[in-house]
Amino acid sequence: MKRDEFSGFFGVLVATVGSAVGLGNLWRFPYLVGQNGGAAFVLIYLAFVLIICLPIVISEFIIGRRTKSNAVKAFQILAPRTPWSAIGIIGVLSAFCIMAFYTVVGGWTLDYLFRSLIHLFSKPDISLMESQFTSLVTSPVRPIIWTVVFIIFNAFIVMCGIKKGIEKYSRIMMPFLFLMIVILMIRSLSLPGAEKGVTFLVKPDFSKINTQVVLAALGQAFFSLSLGMGCLITYGSYVPARENLNKLAFFTAISDTLFAILAGLAIMPAVFAFGISPQEGPGLVFIVLPRIFAQIPLGNFFAVMFFIILLIAAVTSVISLLEVITAYITERLGIKRKIAVTIISLLVTACASFSSLSQGVLKDVKIFGKTMFDFFDYLSANILLPLGGLFIVLFVGWYMKKSQVYDEFTNQGALKGTLFRAYYFVIRYVAPVAIVAVFLDLILR
Ligand code: PHE
Repeated sequence: MKRDEFSGFFGVLVATVGSAVGLGNLWRFPYLVGQNGGAAFVLIYLAFVLIICLPIVISEFIIGRRTKSNAVKAFQILAPRTPWSAIGIIGVLSAFCIMAFYTVVGGWTLDYLFRSLIHLFSKPDISLMESQFTSLVTSPVRPIIWTVVFIIFNAFIVMCGIKKGIEKYSRIMMPFLFLMIVILMIRSLSLPGAEKGVTFLVKPDFSKINTQVVLAALGQAFFSLSLGMGCLITYGSYVPARENLNKLAFFTAISDTLFAILAGLAIMPAVFAFGISPQEGPGLVFIVLPRIFAQIPLGNFFAVMFFIILLIAAVTSVISLLEVITAYITERLGIKRKIAVTIISLLVTACASFSSLSQGVLKDVKIFGKTMFDFFDYLSANILLPLGGLFIVLFVGWYMKKSQVYDEFTNQGALKGTLFRAYYFVIRYVAPVAIVAVFLDLILR
């Protein structure tokens, strides 16, 4: 049977940008900017995206397109009978762990979208917002029901395949997402007092920069670009042979960064205009923003819009995670896509239910001192992603033949490959050292 493919450049781009743009951009980025010296952090982040992460994006695409296989088989083809395929297995596991908490947040988002649709955020009372949020996340049934609805939504898209599922829906959702973020940003920038939020994002305070900040920027770049867990290997395996992987990687990185900055410009001015601390924590999106919406003209409309944005961002990221496992299971076991997606979704529902319950009734059940929700988050983002990323660069830089890498980089010699030497240098030396540094920082902290 012919393997499914993306239809062309734009199709791959919307899908990969969809994977990259997620809760990492809308929440984590603005918050980290706040804690780490504003614009100075943004500059370091940009440098990391361009110098280190962009070559890793290219490397994942190279592995995927060269082998046209799932994240595990790709390594078995390039390095038969070696333990390298463990990288793919780590990737599949990471996808599971990320989904186990990410889908719960997706469920919360649906709940909030529903509440804003029925005009529940009319009173700008912060303690009410806080107790609403706490009672939702600690309730045993309600968030799980929404999480299941969210998972079904994603499962449906992935069941439809690459071109008719992931690509088709990303094509519809991503431009819409972009448009809505821009509208929300304009609304936020037009609030009285918004300048403080902008100043916060663009005025560098270099005195706040230290190694922790530098490493935080690299970690964020990794998470935000969906790197290190086979997501881009899997998407890369559906990229048609004629497409230019470097251009694709470049546009992915730029778009993801643009979204992060737009999200910062949409959220921070509103936060500052209402005198709220930008370091509110995970509650920012679910507690503080509804309060702001309750106070501004047309607030309810913008609340609905914001939760749709969050929902789209989460869906297009979760389908990429689901596809990593689906591609592996269908190709490994030779079973139909629909069956594979159903089985995986049931397993994800089980894990996600536990992580949802760990916010309430099961909050005393701890793994390594963390609730299950925090454990899945910590294990995937802080351990599995950097580990996977490190092995991917070591594999492409030191194990694969240089000629193989060059061939894929230049579409078998059809493209010029001017930047190949710079790329290869980063992959061999700069990226591994940088990742080891981040990794050590994360485990030793
Ligand atoms: N990049 C996504 C975000 O910013 C998260 C993600 C990580 C998605 C890894 C897929 C793989 O929210």
